[in-house]
Amino acid sequence: MLSAPVRLSLAAQVGEKMFADPALSASGKMACATCHDPKAAFGPPNDLAVQLGGKDLNLAGTRAVPSLRYKDYTPPYADLLDNPDGISAPGPGGGFAWDGRAATLADQAAMPLLAPNEMANSGPADVVAKLQAAPYAELFRSAFGGAIFTQPDAAFGKALQALQAFQREDPRFHPYSSKFDLYAANKIGGTLTPAEARGLKVFADAKTGNCASCHYQGAGLNGSSALFTDFSYEAIGVPRNAAIPANADPAYFDVGLCGPLRTDHPSAPGNTLCGMFKAPTLRNVALRKSFFHNGVMHSLEQVIRFYNTRDTMPEIWYPTVGGTPKAKPDAGFPAYGLVTTQYTGGSVQKFNDEPRQFVGNIDTQMPMDGRAAHSTPPMSEREMADLTCFLNTLTDGYQPPANPPTSGPCIQ
Ligand code: HEC
Ligand code: HEC
Repeated sequence: MLSAPVRLSLAAQVGEKMFADPALSASGKMACATCHDPKAAFGPPNDLAVQLGGKDLNLAGTRAVPSLRYKDYTPPYADLLDNPDGISAPGPGGGFAWDGRAATLADQAAMPLLAPNEMANSGPADVVAKLQAAPYAELFRSAFGGAIFTQPDAAFGKALQALQAFQREDPRFHPYSSKFDLYAANKIGGTLTPAEARGLKVFADAKTGNCASCHYQGAGLNGSSALFTDFSYEAIGVPRNAAIPANADPAYFDVGLCGPLRTDHPSAPGNTLCGMFKAPTLRNVALRKSFFHNGVMHSLEQVIRFYNTRDTMPEIWYPTVGGTPKAKPDAGFPAYGLVTTQYTGGSVQKFNDEPRQFVGNIDTQMPMDGRAAHSTPPMSEREMADLTCFLNTLTDGYQPPANPPTSGPCIQ
């Protein structure tokens, strides 16, 4: 896209250096950019559900790495946030991280710097000592005052503001350069193919995909383009991920707004917030290789099929106990689920990553409307394929081809 080069403020220039600096970690090998790779829309560079960090880079996280793009306009968390669509009732919304526990990008930046399983600094003074020894220490002084390093607490605060300024100012965090953006602004090259246009309908249609009701697709706040999230929280019953070491303890549950990382909502029976996670933006979602807060799914196809058949075919998403595995699944038993073994008898452990007392918090709006097992799911094969085509138009860096193809996937 042709636009004037943006001059970053001094603070943002410091933030840019910090973001890529592995010397700011206890291992000396991990920067923000290690997990938030600029080449992957500032999301994870690999398909791991959770990343390894800490002093020896051997301590696993408990959540998937989100993309840092389009975090603009995220309001601080509130239990009753007005929904940007102006129609839905106020509900939990806003904030950074999957559970909204950081109110600003600056607050958020302190968490990875100090988390023992991420950059693992022992405290703010440890980070400041590293900054003082950094090749950009002079730039830090120019931005924040010649004597800034004599006050470690103030210097740490400035460091967090620098990371925030970088994420806010650098256009790479909000390029709005997807095919969808060309389409929405009615620009040349922004014509959706018939398949993509049908996919957009499925995305918005309350009777099929209904994705827009949580991953808002209209004009965003403050006159911005659509952000593809309404910042709201829901519990959608994502299956437990055995690839996360913390889940080896059957008593461990990540219940989002009720902890364990967030600590201000009690994880107690009757608390309707427990089990809820933030609906993330779907911009650049096609670049991801692990999906949902626990990274349990590994393709967009799998995610869409989960939405479609969570209720109608729970046996392919959740484990079965007490049944007899069939040596060979029946013809037609799908291979795209998380469970590919078919059982005779036994019971499906539906919503197996939810403590029993919170199962009632799980959302039952379309497309996961609680319909009976083995009834017809809301989306057809064609609708799911079209929806995938549409989601692919949300990837930044789109270059309209000189000769648009007339056949192939996502065209007709
Ligand atoms: C070890 C991998 C790792 C490193 C290093 C890391 N992050 Fe993250 N980041 C994550 C994970 C995982 C989450 C989700 C955390 C959660 O939900 O509790 C996250 C969340 C975030 C978010 C919130 C995004 C959202 O969708 O609300 C921001 C902003 C962020 N990180 C910025 C940074 C910055 C700045 C740094 C460097 C100081 C950094 N991260 C270093 C893994 C990492
Ligand atoms: C009821 C609200 C709701 C509806 C409707 C909904 N989503 Fe979501 N979506 C969420 C929430 C909440 C999450 C995070 C859940 C979690 O990780 O536990 C999520 C996560 C996702 C993710 C994972 C993204 C990532 O970065 O890991 C994808 C992809 C996604 N949704 C696509 C869709 C599509 C496509 C539809 C329509 C078929 C849809 N969603 C409908 C609430 C919703």
